[in-house]
Amino acid sequence: MSERLVAARAIGDPILVVDDQAAVRDLLTTILSDRGHRVVQAPSGEEALEHLRGQRPFSVVILDLDFGAGRMSGMDVLRRIRADGNDMPVIVLTGQGSVGSAVEAIKCGASDYLEKDAYLEDTIELSMDKIERLVRAIEENRRLAEEYKRLKRQTQYLEEQVGRRYDIVGSSEAIRAALARVERVAKVPRPVLIRGERGTGKELFAAAIHRASPRSEGPFVTVNCAAIPEGLLECELFGQEEDAFNNAPFKLGRFDLAERGTLFLDEIGNMGPEFQQKILRVIEYRTFERVQGNQTLTADVRIVAATNTDLEAAMAAGTFRADLHDRLAFETITLPPLRERIDDIPELADHFIQRFRAEVAGLVAHRLSPAALARLADHNWPGNVRELKNVVERAAYRCDRETIGPEDLDLIPSPRLATEAATATTHAPLLTEGPLPDRIAAFERQAALEALERCGWNQRKAASRLGLNYDQFRHLYRKYDLGRERPGAQE
Ligand SMILES: Nc1ncnc2c1ncn2[C@@H]1O[C@H](COP(=O)(O)OP(=O)(O)OP(=O)(O)O)[C@@H](O)[C@H]1O
Ligand SMILES: [Mg+2]
Repeated sequence: MSERLVAARAIGDPILVVDDQAAVRDLLTTILSDRGHRVVQAPSGEEALEHLRGQRPFSVVILDLDFGAGRMSGMDVLRRIRADGNDMPVIVLTGQGSVGSAVEAIKCGASDYLEKDAYLEDTIELSMDKIERLVRAIEENRRLAEEYKRLKRQTQYLEEQVGRRYDIVGSSEAIRAALARVERVAKVPRPVLIRGERGTGKELFAAAIHRASPRSEGPFVTVNCAAIPEGLLECELFGQEEDAFNNAPFKLGRFDLAERGTLFLDEIGNMGPEFQQKILRVIEYRTFERVQGNQTLTADVRIVAATNTDLEAAMAAGTFRADLHDRLAFETITLPPLRERIDDIPELADHFIQRFRAEVAGLVAHRLSPAALARLADHNWPGNVRELKNVVERAAYRCDRETIGPEDLDLIPSPRLATEAATATTHAPLLTEGPLPDRIAAFERQAALEALERCGWNQRKAASRLGLNYDQFRHLYRKYDLGRERPGAQE
């Protein structure tokens, strides 16, 4: 008994019993009250609808089908309830042996039916167990729908808070043009190549393409081609079949993980020639094989590639396949360096401060003074947006006033000098004066550049000339943007 009461109370709202015979209504009321339900009675279909359209919610309706000639039938009431968009459970009462009308009622959306016979008392007990489960399921659904709505409102709010659709900040002409390309190409199932110096937002834009695409519900998987040794890249990308001989287990590759989503191939300029051939094949024919596998698999994956290397130079030198470039560059999005869009700096700096404040409790600083902004605009930003983010966050963290001044910014004292140093081919003044780290950097850059020049711009040869491995040399090449020094390079 006590168990029943708990179940009944969980349902809460009263049950509406609709029947023209007072004896049936009373019988049902007694049974239902015994189970702990509250009951409201209605003698006709019209009155039932009046109750249902009122303020009071009901958990279940038990509805007679036959109210006599000239009266609204139970079936009409049921249809009206459903037409009003009400999904509450309705149990219909049918006369003895009228299976046909029961079937029709179920078709019209009744949850169950009861035969009005001598056993009504027993059958309603059985039916109520079922109904109570049904009502609980409906209530749970309603609760989940509410929860979903609440979460959706919250996400929308967060998106508005961040302010921009893809977290991409900047209203310069260049950024707006790049965003327009994102929107346009996102829907087209072809590869996209994103180019730009380090820290310009290539990965952020790759993610934006994914989010704006019809694959946005699918996975966004990243592979940094430069970080994975050439020998392991194939297994990493295509996976591997179990190999009992070498005791290697089965492994899914990134192409598997990115199925129906987007695969972001970062630093694509660093792939070896054999590998480029394999990537070309997946793009062209959408097929690949696992390491140790003999089955040809298909990949439903959209590829976005990024590079900050000088692909034209690499193609001229024969280290990057021109056909792969052509395939990848169905659309190319080139992100401009920050020094070429200094108008975006105030907006970006503010964005990073606000983000940082949301992440770290108790920060005092929340804005930059005009002088600090001027100082930022004057800097050369070799590390682009990532560098700006670091500089601004460090200043916000160190400063214990509300407004960050130029003295709080940790920038190289003379940005112009640093710019010149970074782009000049000779560094004699810097080698004999200035802070030691700058002098070391200048020396390192000059040594790498000289090695390149002496080796006809063959990076592998230059690396071995300096006693470095290829990855170490590539690091220097990117750090000092040496591609720009190559005769015939852009800019
Ligand atoms: N327009 C932008 N708006 C907001 N944040 C940005 C923007 N551009 C870049 N960032 C931020 O700057 C940092 C660097 O961006 P990202 O990693 O996308 O650059 P990247 O071009 O891939 O760099 P790398 O070549 O070094 O891999 C990230 O924290 C990113 O969120
Ligand atoms: Mg990146």
